Amino acid sequence: MIRIALAGVGNCCSALIQGLHHYRMTGNPLGLLHETLGGYRASDIEVVAAFDIDRRKVGRDLSEAVFASPNTVPRMVDLPHLGVTVLRGPVLDGLGPLTKNLIEVEELEGFSNIAEELKGSEAEILINLISGGAEQASRYYAGAALEAGCAFINATPAEIACDTSLARRFEEAGLPLIGDDLLDQVGATAVHMGILEFLNGRGVHIDESYQLDVGGGMESLDTLGRTKEFKRRVKTEAVSSSIPYEFPLVSGSTDYVDFLEDKRESFLWVKGRYFIGAEFTMDIKMTTRDAPNAGAVLLDVIRATKLAMDRGMGGVVTPIAAYGFKRSPKRYPITEAQRLFERFVEELGG
Ligand SMILES: NC(=O)c1ccc[n+]([C@@H]2O[C@H](COP(=O)([O-])OP(=O)(O)OC[C@H]3O[C@@H](n4cnc5c(N)ncnc54)[C@H](O)[C@@H]3O)[C@@H](O)[C@H]2O)c1
Repeated sequence: MIRIALAGVGNCCSALIQGLHHYRMTGNPLGLLHETLGGYRASDIEVVAAFDIDRRKVGRDLSEAVFASPNTVPRMVDLPHLGVTVLRGPVLDGLGPLTKNLIEVEELEGFSNIAEELKGSEAEILINLISGGAEQASRYYAGAALEAGCAFINATPAEIACDTSLARRFEEAGLPLIGDDLLDQVGATAVHMGILEFLNGRGVHIDESYQLDVGGGMESLDTLGRTKEFKRRVKTEAVSSSIPYEFPLVSGSTDYVDFLEDKRESFLWVKGRYFIGAEFTMDIKMTTRDAPNAGAVLLDVIRATKLAMDRGMGGVVTPIAAYGFKRSPKRYPITEAQRLFERFVEELGG
């Protein structure tokens, strides 16, 4: 069993919980990246604690909280009572300028002692799924994980695994620290990286490229309110690692359209030259569901992190971070990161 705790019961958390139940009940691996990873199946993952700040989620069983507003992920799976009550976390900078009216903060006095709750629930890994702009709160959860002896997976864009002093503290404690900013399974960044790498491998010279998207989840609104420029830099740097030379490149989240709900529309454009300088352009539009796009990668990252823990590894584990995250401290082209990860799992998983 892999005992996990979740900070942030938003859309991403909802897709993860629904996915865990779906794969446990059906045994059908369609949509997973790995059915078994290092000997662990998705059904070996057990959620033992969850934290949020919204009164519509706090105090409720996780099976109900994941469908509470303002979450927009549809109900894809009927969940049984899970026996995990969502606890109130610290608000800190959890509310962004544009999301402060969407999140209804639970008015309970004080908040749960996160480190004590993690210890009490015997969680092994804390996964950070709170709002992207919440740097301070993300650091708080990372500190609580350290105190409780948990590994920490940072799916948010907050600078956690890329913070060398924090990484050193996890290394000294012998606990894995994995992040930052999850790379979706078929998200625009991953597809953009894959296409550019493919074209480069076909001898094409890339002259210009951009990828922009529009989403309807609360996270898109938070990005618009406080992390737009930062996310654009993170995504552009991630994509630029696919090509060994510099060229005009933009990759970023652009805007929020509420009625898209959990959908994301991504626009990808490439201009390049091939034989005798012949020109071509490529235009792709992709429509995805945002939250389920995180599920399969998270399931891989959770299982690989447990493997690393089993082997006593501490600090940033590069093969996991480079495979599953846009802003890993060390970056690789997407297929190389995948190879690194497979080799790592094979070596550790036996
Ligand atoms: N495909 C994906 O969904 C995807 C991909 C990459 C990265 N991420 C990152 O994962 C995170 C979660 O994404 P999401 O779409 O579920 O966001 P979301 O906005 O739907 O959910 C965020 C949740 O965090 C809660 N929260 C805010 N501050 C908190 C605090 N201090 N303590 C506890 N809970 C707090 C909110 O109430 C909300 O329930 C974001 O940072 C996002 O950038 C998601």
